[in-house]
Amino acid sequence: MRHLIDPLYLSVEETEQILNIADDICENMEKYSNKCDGKILATLFFEPSTRTRLSFESAMMRLGGKVLGFSSASSSSASKGETVADTIRVIGNYVDIVAMRHPNDGAAYRASQYSKKPIINAGDGGHQHPTQTLTDLMTIRRRHGRLDNITIGFCGDLKYGRTVHSLVKALSRYKGNHFVFISPKELEVPRYVIDEYVKKSDCTYEEVTDLSSAMPELDILYMTRVQRERFADIEQYNRLKDSYILSPELLKEAKKEMAILHPLPRVNEITLSVDDDERAKYFEQAGNGVFVRMALILSLLGMGNLDLNAEKDNHDEVVKLDVKCKNRNCITNMEDGTKPVYVKGENGRVRCKFCDEYVD
Ligand code: NCD
Repeated sequence: MRHLIDPLYLSVEETEQILNIADDICENMEKYSNKCDGKILATLFFEPSTRTRLSFESAMMRLGGKVLGFSSASSSSASKGETVADTIRVIGNYVDIVAMRHPNDGAAYRASQYSKKPIINAGDGGHQHPTQTLTDLMTIRRRHGRLDNITIGFCGDLKYGRTVHSLVKALSRYKGNHFVFISPKELEVPRYVIDEYVKKSDCTYEEVTDLSSAMPELDILYMTRVQRERFADIEQYNRLKDSYILSPELLKEAKKEMAILHPLPRVNEITLSVDDDERAKYFEQAGNGVFVRMALILSLLGMGNLDLNAEKDNHDEVVKLDVKCKNRNCITNMEDGTKPVYVKGENGRVRCKFCDEYVD
């Protein structure tokens, strides 16, 4: 049995096969309409969602399967104090596969430690969002026909934007990509993303604060909203929320074939007038979410051309340490009995396996 907690749980080959299946589903939806007859997906959403939850539900229904779940922590037993570990042990008896979103970093990994059924991470705190990555990769590949040698600008809240962390991880496995991280200093991309993945790769990167001067070189502009719900200090949010607003004026310097992506929801970081620009691909991107999730569900259930039912090796070197994780939002600091697991990265630095926070 396989889970999808992080984009790297899929190899490059597996990822591309899922994208191929998703492309085929997009062209030949009717071929797939009974593939999951009799199967049930649980959508456990402890945190708000529109696209991710509904596209998972649509995906399972379009495969002929059924869906049950909840859309907020308040309507689940989490509100009575139940742990993720207990919830998942129970739900595993009711369904065949689980998509879960939770406000704490590492919650999906925690669930996977206890689950008898495949867990799909539909977003864990400000950490990872691997199925959005599949959606993003499908959209990029359909636009440019490749996933390598692309210059991609990530703009906005790169600190808390989990979709950015996951997409950078996935794209850093391809040759020749250049990442331009565009953010205010306070919202820069976490160091582990750069040190553990980008620096180890055949890709290059730069960190800048100005969007307009970065614009001319970009093949993809990946906009993000400032993630209000992750700020401890609301004053800081108010100071940073309008850092970047993409307008037709700013786009004058962009390449004709550039694509503008955004995981959505948009707040005000892209003006409505940009929607009419041929380069605006964010609604198409959201639509692709159904196809990749159909391909993923099929594969994790071992019912597609790609069988992900076999266990995958995990080569992380575990380090024994008896300290608390420094990340206050890490699930190990939230749930009783959750022991942090520490692993050694390439550069010898030790980090929490649940949330990737460095120990030193
Ligand atoms: C993103 C998320 O939840 O991380 N939305 C999504 O899943 N499409 C981005 C966001 O909330 O800003």
